[in-house]
Amino acid sequence: MPSRGPSPLRPAFSTSLGGASFKVDPMSPVADELHPVIHAGRVAVITGAANGIGRAAALELAKLGLKVALADVVEDRLAETGREVTAFAGEGNVLVIPTDVSKIEEVVRLKDKVYEAWGEVAVLLNNAAIGPSGTSWAGLDNWHKTFAVNVFGVLNVQQTFVPSMIHQENPSVIINTGSKQGITNPPGNTSYNASKAAVKSLTEGLAHELRQQPTQNLTAHLFIPGWTYTALGGALHPKDTDQKPPGAWSAEETVLYMLDKVREGEFYILCPDNETRREIDELRVMWAAGDIVEGRPALSRWHPNYKSVFEEYMKEGLASLD
Ligand SMILES: NC(=O)c1ccc[n+]([C@@H]2O[C@H](COP(=O)([O-])OP(=O)(O)OC[C@H]3O[C@@H](n4cnc5c(N)ncnc54)[C@H](O)[C@@H]3O)[C@@H](O)[C@H]2O)c1
Repeated sequence: MPSRGPSPLRPAFSTSLGGASFKVDPMSPVADELHPVIHAGRVAVITGAANGIGRAAALELAKLGLKVALADVVEDRLAETGREVTAFAGEGNVLVIPTDVSKIEEVVRLKDKVYEAWGEVAVLLNNAAIGPSGTSWAGLDNWHKTFAVNVFGVLNVQQTFVPSMIHQENPSVIINTGSKQGITNPPGNTSYNASKAAVKSLTEGLAHELRQQPTQNLTAHLFIPGWTYTALGGALHPKDTDQKPPGAWSAEETVLYMLDKVREGEFYILCPDNETRREIDELRVMWAAGDIVEGRPALSRWHPNYKSVFEEYMKEGLASLD
């Protein structure tokens, strides 16, 4: 059982690492156990916590000694995850709050319950999402469902929690879960891609707006998982099977990577997996931006006329790194 830190209602951290003016200096990383946000005794709220990445984050943060509020729309699975998390966090340190993030009144109830119980939020992982298929001119119902959860769900949580979090004395973080599909836009599920592009945009805007705040005590982060073996990961990558494919990361691996990058203060938390290393993602992102700059057709990466040019670009790009 991890040691419990002092009350989250304690005065602001007073060491040179903490306090209202705390900033993570990427050149001198803070030792994990001293990080003022991901810290025993503080509070995490996770949406989409019943399964996959949200569940893995809940377990990891509980192991680190944080109190954890779990929110998800699937109640029986959420209760089960609640029991698993309680085994690490202990009774009284876990809240299981069934919540549909697409319904603002349920998100307000979530926030009220967390603040009533623990008086603060240090880590807000805005993670719930769905991926029903919607192409450009079909599946309008799925577009509505996808945007209701992936965009308005994220916004509901952000707009409900941020006004309280910015006034907290101790530093805190909001982590919105985006996707590489919201950046490079691979063909297959346009509605999901568009929803994740919106999450990227609104999280960048949030980060900027938070930087204008006098205390700058709350920072925003865009979490961009790689291929992660979860229910949604399977739907997004049809070659998925009952067993974790070698190319995917487990949810635990993705969460541990994400937490390290939050500790380092990174905004864009671009996660690799066993199939795609960071350099490959960087080249793909540059190529996607190059469609605009170079005047190529949209999504030229998947255009037959550009197939060999793209392959050559990747080959040369990777060779220049070796
Ligand atoms: N798995 C991947 O490869 C991958 C890649 C990139 C991004 N992501 C993102 O990671 C996040 C977590 O996904 P995951 O892979 O763990 O999927 P998952 O399906 O295992 O978990 C998503 C959770 O969100 C919950 N949820 C759905 N609608 C909800 C609602 N209206 N209110 C509250 N909860 C709701 C689900 O019940 C589920 O427990 C998502 O934002 C997803 O888009 C995943």
